[in-house]
Amino acid sequence: MKIQPTEFPQKWDNAFQVGVPVIDEQHERLFCLIKDLETMQRKEQGSNLVNLSEAFFKIAQFAGDQLIREEMYLQGIESPTLPRHKTLHKEFINQIVAFQQQLQAGENPLDQTLEYLKSWFVNHCLNYDKEALKGKA
Ligand SMILES: [Fe+2]
Repeated sequence: MKIQPTEFPQKWDNAFQVGVPVIDEQHERLFCLIKDLETMQRKEQGSNLVNLSEAFFKIAQFAGDQLIREEMYLQGIESPTLPRHKTLHKEFINQIVAFQQQLQAGENPLDQTLEYLKSWFVNHCLNYDKEALKGKA
């Protein structure tokens, strides 16, 4: 399924699955986090720094948890994508840390974070991960 970040899906669809339960669960969790942030943006709760800090805590937890599990899985199946994949995951973590630093500096990174997460979900989870795991699940 090829979709553009601009047409971000409203609901989770099983067609998003890569076929590896441990990875699909985490992708669904990220999808829910994005939806929560969208609600926060819509209700203008993003100006509440406590809400935003909590949201960032969940994203950081997700990043630590999911990306490592995925890398372990890729290592287990001896995926040739592993080195490049690790680099991409590290870039993701660095970007999230940068947004978190903006938050700590008193800025509001909600809009940029949301855009980044949507584009990551579509380009990485739905396209790159799927391609990397093709025929391996
Ligand atoms: Fe990945």
